Amino acid sequence: MLGIPLRYLVKHPVSGVADLAADPLQIWTTVHDTYVAQREQRGPRCPYESDPYWEQQLHGLLGLPWPCQVASEFWGLWPKVIAEMEAMGVRVGPESFQAWNDGDAGFVRAIWCLVRHMKPKMVVETGVAHGVTSRCILEALEKNGEGRLWSIDLPPLERDWRKQVGVAVGNRYGDRWSYIKGSSRLHLPDLLSRLGQIDLFIHDSLHSERNVRFELDRAWTVLRPNGAIVVDDVDANWGFQTFTQTFPHQRSMICDAEPIQPDLRRFNQKGLFGIILKPAQA
Ligand SMILES: C[S@@+](CC[C@H](N)C(=O)[O-])C[C@H]1O[C@@H](n2cnc3c(N)ncnc32)[C@H](O)[C@@H]1O
Repeated sequence: MLGIPLRYLVKHPVSGVADLAADPLQIWTTVHDTYVAQREQRGPRCPYESDPYWEQQLHGLLGLPWPCQVASEFWGLWPKVIAEMEAMGVRVGPESFQAWNDGDAGFVRAIWCLVRHMKPKMVVETGVAHGVTSRCILEALEKNGEGRLWSIDLPPLERDWRKQVGVAVGNRYGDRWSYIKGSSRLHLPDLLSRLGQIDLFIHDSLHSERNVRFELDRAWTVLRPNGAIVVDDVDANWGFQTFTQTFPHQRSMICDAEPIQPDLRRFNQKGLFGIILKPAQA
């Protein structure tokens, strides 16, 4: 169980000991979360099936026509965000932030449409990395002229990787964005109880069933009626499946990711994400 931090300590004794001394609870929580995530990988894969018409279905459930105008706004922004990152020398796409993927065009477009159509005041996400998703949420809130984003993110131990956290956002929209450093297990409950109610929740942090259920179960209790949850990489664990079975009154859909390059680790070379809409009366 201690393999990962021990390897890091041996490789980086000074910064490793500094991290441990600065926040032992966070280091212990990370070790435990990683151990459980690795054990989960021994089980069978959940046989999710994607809905090829998810965009039409999503807009139908929101009572909106499809194709919609705001999806074309997204296609104006997306190449700009990617080009800016590439110009900074940042690699984009699958496994571009250690083993993590940047938000892909399908996942981020779904979030873009939800933010532009629902005009949320309070958005919470977990997992920032390069900040592709954060940047697009913030751009959509800015276009709406209202709303704030809180992002909980456990940065990598390696100092070089930490410099890349949030590069897609840069210095933009500081008045709309709160970055909370640390794991969702340690910070999400407190954040949600401070906010009281949220309009939209996005999971893109540690993709274990245990962590997905920890985040979704808590977000659900403060999600307003007609609010939404978007979950990345649902094919990585059973969390989306067990959540939607436990809360049967929600409406949900599974969608194909659209990575810039094929993600060869995935059963469909793309990955899947999921959307959950909370009914007016849950
Ligand atoms: C898939 S990446 C996020 C990609 C990001 N949404 C984007 O579009 O660029 C996952 C991020 O979550 C962080 N992370 C890992 N475990 C976490 C946890 N338990 N809580 C919060 N963040 C975590 C990782 O360090 C990484 O930065």
